[in-house]
Amino acid sequence: MKKKMLAGAALLSAMALAFTGCAGNTSPGASGEPGDGGDVIKVGFAQTGSESGWRSANTESMKEAFSKENGFDLVFNAADNKQEAQIAAVRSFINQGVDAIVIAPITVDGWDDVLKEAQDAQIPVILEDRTVSASEDLYASWVGLDFEQEGRTAGEWVKENFDGKGANLVILEGTTGSSAALDRATGFGEAIKGTDINVLDSQTGDFTRDGGKKVMEGYLQKYGKDIDVLFAHNDDMGLGALDAIKAAGLTPGKDIQIVTIDAVKDGMTALANGEFNFIVECNPLLGEKAAELVKDVLAGKTVEKKTIVEDQSFTQEQAKEVLDSRPY
Ligand code: AHR
Repeated sequence: MKKKMLAGAALLSAMALAFTGCAGNTSPGASGEPGDGGDVIKVGFAQTGSESGWRSANTESMKEAFSKENGFDLVFNAADNKQEAQIAAVRSFINQGVDAIVIAPITVDGWDDVLKEAQDAQIPVILEDRTVSASEDLYASWVGLDFEQEGRTAGEWVKENFDGKGANLVILEGTTGSSAALDRATGFGEAIKGTDINVLDSQTGDFTRDGGKKVMEGYLQKYGKDIDVLFAHNDDMGLGALDAIKAAGLTPGKDIQIVTIDAVKDGMTALANGEFNFIVECNPLLGEKAAELVKDVLAGKTVEKKTIVEDQSFTQEQAKEVLDSRPY
């Protein structure tokens, strides 16, 4: 499908509307509803990489939603967590003349130029998962999670269980410069502010198991048994840390209590087994909403600028109850 075949003046005025931001966007579209009339919508999806269990579930959700059966021709790229590679993938989608581009941005900064290029090429961009610092006028819509609230919920649990005890905390941060890591750090920091919880260290484990394990090994060498609690920005880093804690002869969940974010199957299993103590969910099933947004934007409908998907949180008891029914 190539809806960019619209006559010059009509197209220009439609596009001017499409990228004016604020309350939402309309887009090209003019003749009919892309994807609803048998036309195939070609979509380029620039994924971050495959750093975590959450990411695998998110990729699966996107591939399922942007399927042939649903009227899409998906061009998929995973950038191995490298910002330059992800920007190059978006440029390649522009050169291929796709109908729309979806991006799960690795970092918040650095998007202005390529988003402007997409806009100049009259290709609407939808963001999923993470946010960017670029002007809202440069993309049509975003669907994702409230990362700051996720961090705050994790921090409130730590405050409730450790304030007043002079506890020592270490943190495993997500990918440096990603909105997920920045916002979770902000929310968590706010929640434990004014407590007597002592933050011994905070370093990035890049959202991976290997990263989490390596950084935790360093923490254990440096602080040993002084560590009371670990906050990991995702399950995978927490799971990597479990190996390091066990190898150091300590019992995760008891000697060192662990709070993480995501609630993927492996994390929930660790929680149900008593090795994690609390998990804040981060819902990866964003594909359906992203596909709906792409269709609506191409059909010229007004869409919300931001869609926030709700998260919940789990204690060990709650994890035992829901583990079998978790879809990812
Ligand atoms: O942006 C969402 C985060 O990215 C998830 O919490 C993490 O697991 C993933 O890598």
